Amino acid sequence: MRDGFGPLKDQAAARAVALVESGMVVGLGHGTTAAHALRRLAERLRVGEVRDVMGVPCSRFVEAEAARLGVPLTTFEAHPVLDLTIDGADEVSPELDLLKGRGGALLREKIVAQASRRVAIVVDESKLSPCLGTRRPVPVEVLPFGCCSQVRYLESLGARVVPRKADGRTLFVTDQGNLILDCDFGPLSEPRRLADQLGARAGIVEHGLFLGLATEVIVAGPGGIRHLRRGGPGAPS
Ligand code: A5P
Repeated sequence: MRDGFGPLKDQAAARAVALVESGMVVGLGHGTTAAHALRRLAERLRVGEVRDVMGVPCSRFVEAEAARLGVPLTTFEAHPVLDLTIDGADEVSPELDLLKGRGGALLREKIVAQASRRVAIVVDESKLSPCLGTRRPVPVEVLPFGCCSQVRYLESLGARVVPRKADGRTLFVTDQGNLILDCDFGPLSEPRRLADQLGARAGIVEHGLFLGLATEVIVAGPGGIRHLRRGGPGAPS
């Protein structure tokens, strides 16, 4: 996939991959930015800069890519706690909360992030947002069973709901066999409240609001790379 920020995102991804140390178990995110990180990690392993690193992939696609690049994989059964996850995001708020899921892997991404001691998110400057929901809808993963009921529920919360399509005709199906409803609520003044409302509904499997999960965000821009840390100087606690 091509985008105008490719080289900048690659530099930022390299910065995130520099956090990987020998022996770590690393969550491997999904998306174009995380793909840069995976290639960089494969390179560090190949030249022997780090050893005995194992990854937990956030999607079947990433699993196949890791195998192709020679990055060893492990499972939650063997490693229920991860040292570090490196992933991308669709929007990053000033509080370092995230909107994720444009790539459709939000459920596994959240499971992996919640199991990680440290979550490093890599983005380009275009992803910085004054308020989550400003640029992108909130992806909501739902079970196919009762899906129409979820559409009505989400509309009752104020969303304009668009079922995600795979190719213009067929519905997008996640790695878990679920559907994604892209929900435009507009800018979210109370993302925690919405997250609670989504979390309370049977049939909604997960949503793309990642609140309080990122420990740091590495931002690539024409002026260079910035490393924002939760609780760091000038950063939200
Ligand atoms: C995947 O489901 C997403 O959460 C991605 O992490 C997010 O969409 C960022 O993707 P890009 O790095 O491709 O912009």
